[in-house]
Amino acid sequence: MEIAVVGSGYVGLVTGVCLAHLGHRVTCIDINLEKINKLRKGVPPIYEPGLDVMLKDLIRKKRITFSTSIKTGTKKAVVIFIAVGTPSKPNGEADLTYVENVAREVAENMHSYKLLVEKSTVPAETGLRIRRTVQMNLPKKYRNKNNGGLEFDVASNPEFLREGSAIEDFMNPDRVVVGVESKRAEEIFREIYKPLKPRMIVTDLKSAELIKHASNSFLATKISFINSIAQVCDRVGADVLKVSEGMGFDKRIGRHFLDAGIGYGGSCFPKDVEAFIHLSEKSGYNFILLDAVRKVNESQRRYFIRLIEDKLWIVKNKVIAVLGLSFKPNTDDMRSAPSVDIIQALQKEGATVRAYDPQAMENAQSLLPGVTLTKDVFSAVKGAHCLLLLTEWPEFKKIDFKRIHNLMQQPLVFDGRNMFADENLEQYGFEYYGIGRGIYKGERG
Ligand code: UDX
Repeated sequence: MEIAVVGSGYVGLVTGVCLAHLGHRVTCIDINLEKINKLRKGVPPIYEPGLDVMLKDLIRKKRITFSTSIKTGTKKAVVIFIAVGTPSKPNGEADLTYVENVAREVAENMHSYKLLVEKSTVPAETGLRIRRTVQMNLPKKYRNKNNGGLEFDVASNPEFLREGSAIEDFMNPDRVVVGVESKRAEEIFREIYKPLKPRMIVTDLKSAELIKHASNSFLATKISFINSIAQVCDRVGADVLKVSEGMGFDKRIGRHFLDAGIGYGGSCFPKDVEAFIHLSEKSGYNFILLDAVRKVNESQRRYFIRLIEDKLWIVKNKVIAVLGLSFKPNTDDMRSAPSVDIIQALQKEGATVRAYDPQAMENAQSLLPGVTLTKDVFSAVKGAHCLLLLTEWPEFKKIDFKRIHNLMQQPLVFDGRNMFADENLEQYGFEYYGIGRGIYKGERG
C-alpha cells in the first residue's frame, strides 16, 4: 500500500516507520526541513527505544522516504494519515488549524481516490469537517459529485501508543479502532493492518473519535483515583501499594494505571482531559468527574512540594538533588512533566537544584533555567540536603545507595513514584518518604 503520513512528531513518525516495517511504502511529510533532513540521514528527532535502528534499516531498503511537500509527498499515496499537532487554545479547546491546513492542501493536489485518516486526537465531528473542507477545495473539475466528481473517504483511526514503548504498542495493539463511512475504506484498513492480525473495532467516524477521548480520560481518571486513595492512605496510616495490589486483582478493575505518585504529565493526558472537558461543555454536558480528575492531578504536585517543605524545614539555600526529569521513563519528552512545576516551586523558595536524567536533559535545559544538569547520579547528589526521585527510570533501581548516602549532606529521600518502596532505604541510614505509604500526615485539604 502507498501511504503518506503528514506530521513527523511522536505519533506520525512511529506510525510511518511501523507501517513501512509492515511492508507498505511510506512517505513521511513535515514542514520542518531540519527535521526532514535529519530523518533522511536516519536520525530520529526524538528518543524512542528501537526507532533509530528500524529507521536506518527502512531507509536502506528504500521502504520509507521523507518530504517537506504535501503536493509531492501525497501524489502516489492511496492513504494519507494526518498526524499533525492539535495544541490547546488558552480555553483548553483543541486548535485544529494544522489539521485544516493539511486537509485543504491535500484536496488542492488530489487527482485520484484517497483515504484521509485522522490520527491526531481530535474532537468528534472533525472527520465531517475534514470531509467538507476536502470537498470544497478539490480542483474545480472534480467538485461536481454527479458529473466527474472525485471519490475520496475520510476516516478516524485513533492511536493508543505510549511514549517509551511506542513501537511495541503499535506492533501488538490491544485493538485497532477505525471509524469509516464506506466499505472501501474499511477494506483498506483491513489490508493495512493485516500483518498484525489485530482485533478490529469498525464503527462510524464520531464513535471512533470518542473512543480515543474516552480511553485517555478513563486512564487519567484511574490515576487520579489512586492518587486520591494515596491521600487517604497517608492520613489514616494505610499503604497505597497494598491497596492498589488488592484492588488490581479484581479483573473488573485491573492493576494497570493504579500507580500513585506525583500525577500524570506528557503530551496526551493533560491536553486530552482538558479538550474533552471543553468538548463536553460545548455539547451541553458538564463533565464534573473529569474536572475533578484534572484538579486532583494538579494537587498531587503541590502535595509533594508541601511534604518536602515540611521535612526539609527550611528550603532556602538547600541543595536539592533530582533524579529523573522526563514525564515518564524511556522518553526524552518534557511536555507537562511534573518535574518542571516541582523544581520551579523549590527554586522560587531559594533552593539550589541539581538534576540528572538519562535522556531528557537536552530538552530540560531551556525549561529549567538555573538548574545544574549533571553528568551522572553521583554528581547530582554530592553535598545535597535531600534527594527527589521524579521519574522511575529503570537504571535508578540499580544505584549504589551506600555511596549516595556517603555523598549526601543530609540523608533525606522523597520518592515521587514509590520506586524505592522495596529497597528498605532506612538500612543505609536514609529517612525515606514515598506517596501514600501512610507515613506522612502533615497535609490537610
Ligand atoms: C498515553 C496513553 O497511555 C496512550 O494510549 C495515548 O495514545 C497517549 O497518552 P503516554 O502519554 O505516552 O500515553 O504515557 P502513559 O504511559 O500513559 O503515562 C502518562 C502519564 O501518567 C505519565 O506521566 C505517567 O507517569 C503517569 N502514570 C501512569 C501514573 O502516574 N500512574 C500510573 O499508574 C500510570
